[in-house]
Amino acid sequence: MTDTAGPPVAGEVGLPILRLDNITKRFGAVSVLRGVNLSLGRGEVLGLVGDNGAGKTTLVKIITGFIRADGGRIFLDGKERRFTSVDEARSHGIETVYQDLALIPQLSVYHNLFLNRELTTGGFLGLLSNRRMRSLARQYLDDINVNIPDIDAEAEMLSGGQRQAIAVARASRMPGVKVLLLDEPLAAMGAREASLIIDLIRDMSKSRGISMIVVDHNYTHLFEFCDRISVIQQGAITWDRKTAETSIDELTEFMVWEYRRQVMSGRVEKVE
Ligand SMILES: Nc1ncnc2c1ncn2[C@@H]1O[C@H](COP(=O)(O)OP(=O)(O)O)[C@@H](O)[C@H]1O
Ligand SMILES: [Mg+2]
Repeated sequence: MTDTAGPPVAGEVGLPILRLDNITKRFGAVSVLRGVNLSLGRGEVLGLVGDNGAGKTTLVKIITGFIRADGGRIFLDGKERRFTSVDEARSHGIETVYQDLALIPQLSVYHNLFLNRELTTGGFLGLLSNRRMRSLARQYLDDINVNIPDIDAEAEMLSGGQRQAIAVARASRMPGVKVLLLDEPLAAMGAREASLIIDLIRDMSKSRGISMIVVDHNYTHLFEFCDRISVIQQGAITWDRKTAETSIDELTEFMVWEYRRQVMSGRVEKVE
């Protein structure tokens, strides 16, 4: 019988919404994930940190059903799941915003917000209800304080931060979303744009109870909105702390120490 997640992890309130047990993945001869163990609490925001190539995106893609793990188990809400597609994972409440956004540049802001779940007038022809989508989009963007003056504008006219805000807002609006995965949502963003997304993340976890895994390199940002931070190195979690019980200094020290250790062991070349 493999249908339960076992007892809750010590120190956590209730059963985690998501738990990964010994996830492995190889691409050809390269072992990219070497037994990842991770748990995500309900409403918790987990920051995932690690060097380029550490396996962060691969892990996100496995959780979201985009690629299959070679080994290990995934439990959602205490039930073991093996998602074979993104649609299947989505039907269980797992949503993702990828590094490369999935907005359609030539479509308007409001059409992008309703992409793949457009409102129709109903009836036999099922005509798109543009008027309703426009006014709901306006209201929703106002609600979450995303300032987009013209929602008829094509998505390609927006700044990177505005596009990211729409992608995040759209994912968080999916019916039944429980777990949201954000892969570098703040990459290449200015301070104002980043703070917009940070506010969105906070709001979604605190007021709507959505659990999140956020990949990011900026420790200052992560400490602003994460409940916990995990470090992934060469395909395994090597450090995991609640943000309330650690500090940016402690995380930095760990990363520097790890870097030195790798230089000493000849695994990376020293940067002069
Ligand atoms: N589809 C793929 N085929 C072969 N190798 C891949 C593929 N996807 C990722 N990799 C490799 O797996 C490693 C981890 O990549 P990735 O998960 O993207 O790391 P991160 O997101 O932490 O930078 C890298 O060495 C990368 O080149
Ligand atoms: Mg990546």
